[in-house]
Amino acid sequence: MAGAKYKAGLEGVVVGPTSVSEVTQTGLRYRGYDIQDLAHNACFDEVAHLLLYEELPTAKQLADFRARIQGAMALPTPVGLAVANMPFDTEPMDVLRSAVSLLAHYDPDCLDNSRDADRRKAERLLGQLAATLGMWAQKTTGVPAVRPDPKASHGGNLLAMLLGRHPSELAARVMDVTLILYAEHEFNASTFTARTIASTMADLHSAVTGAIAALKGPLHGGANEAAMKQFLEIGEPANVDSWFRECMAYNEANPDQKRLIMGFGHRVYKKGDHRAAILRDWSIKLSKQTGITKWLEIADRLQAIMFGEKGLYPNLDYPASHTYYQLGIPIQLYTPIFVCSRVTGWCAHLMEQYENNRIIRPLSEYTGPPPRRLLPIERRQAGGVLVDAGEGKHYVA
Ligand code: CMC
Repeated sequence: MAGAKYKAGLEGVVVGPTSVSEVTQTGLRYRGYDIQDLAHNACFDEVAHLLLYEELPTAKQLADFRARIQGAMALPTPVGLAVANMPFDTEPMDVLRSAVSLLAHYDPDCLDNSRDADRRKAERLLGQLAATLGMWAQKTTGVPAVRPDPKASHGGNLLAMLLGRHPSELAARVMDVTLILYAEHEFNASTFTARTIASTMADLHSAVTGAIAALKGPLHGGANEAAMKQFLEIGEPANVDSWFRECMAYNEANPDQKRLIMGFGHRVYKKGDHRAAILRDWSIKLSKQTGITKWLEIADRLQAIMFGEKGLYPNLDYPASHTYYQLGIPIQLYTPIFVCSRVTGWCAHLMEQYENNRIIRPLSEYTGPPPRRLLPIERRQAGGVLVDAGEGKHYVA
């Protein structure tokens, strides 16, 4: 529309209010609670309850909430069969996307967009997504099925399903912390996608399906897998400097296809992502238990170079990548784990959107051809033909 101005990537544009979380240069809060406080003193199930029900649970509420999530881990039989029959080399993100789309057909609340129904659907999806990913790990890596521990938090149970065995207390806690840190992040690309879909009054499963698609890309959730592949490419701490120099030389020779250093940079945080620092501390604790320090050493050296050369800080996907690797999780499951957590944030936003909805319909800045007249098909030429429009004017048709 003429006269209206756009900002590339909607940078700095406020697109709506939210009470779910607050992102600032100095921190991140979920419904008023500092992320550091939550990561140190709560389990993921409490955080999921906070996001979906607006308050932290009492002990009784937590036990009931956990039981409902674990109860949803038994997938509807047709969905279980469909997942089991998906081609072996299907990307796990696509498995989850298709599974959510299929789960809609068997959800009794599918077309009910009320807050109560959305909470029921969100709880079911929490259990179903973890169960689907666990099933996929069993199919593709051969790990045995593991029953969830009714007393364990979601992170510990999810890790058990991915590894085929119950993890150590520290490993379960670290996994849970990654889910807490991944759970919510205001109007990021996947959440905005979900809200845009919901703004047409489409149902929650449709919006979550779209959100998973948006999260898949390497500039968003896919960065945790890309960052680990980068660490493996570097291989050893001694290789970091030469690897970085090679990347910069490549970028100089190929200015149109510059290689990004995955796990660095952020649209909002320009002085560092607090979540990355929190997870790095947990990763250090884990490396003391596993005795594996190589990935942290590579990460620290690359972080120092990136700050010195580019002034860029790591984002959450950076420590998440080598933390998941230390936990023994196959790389292709990292972004799907992000889904298993972020579904809580998406659903919290969807409830907010449905309750105070106005269709999301922004404007564009037109950059195409000027107005022109249609030419009869027999006079058209591939690539267009210059047509005399009279009064000395011409147009391409
Ligand atoms: N490696 C190399 N250069 C970078 C990187 C990077 N990771 N990130 C930003 N830059 C450069 C960018 O090319 C630009 O340079 P120039 O001014 O010469 O064009 C400059 O830094 C400023 O970039 P920006 O405008 O701050 O970046 P943005 O807001 O458009 O994009 C981003 C943010 C996260 C998509 C981008 O930093 C990126 O692609 N990072 C790598 C992928 C990644 O780690 N994504 C995870 C995002 S955070 C959590 C999540 O959503 O999952």
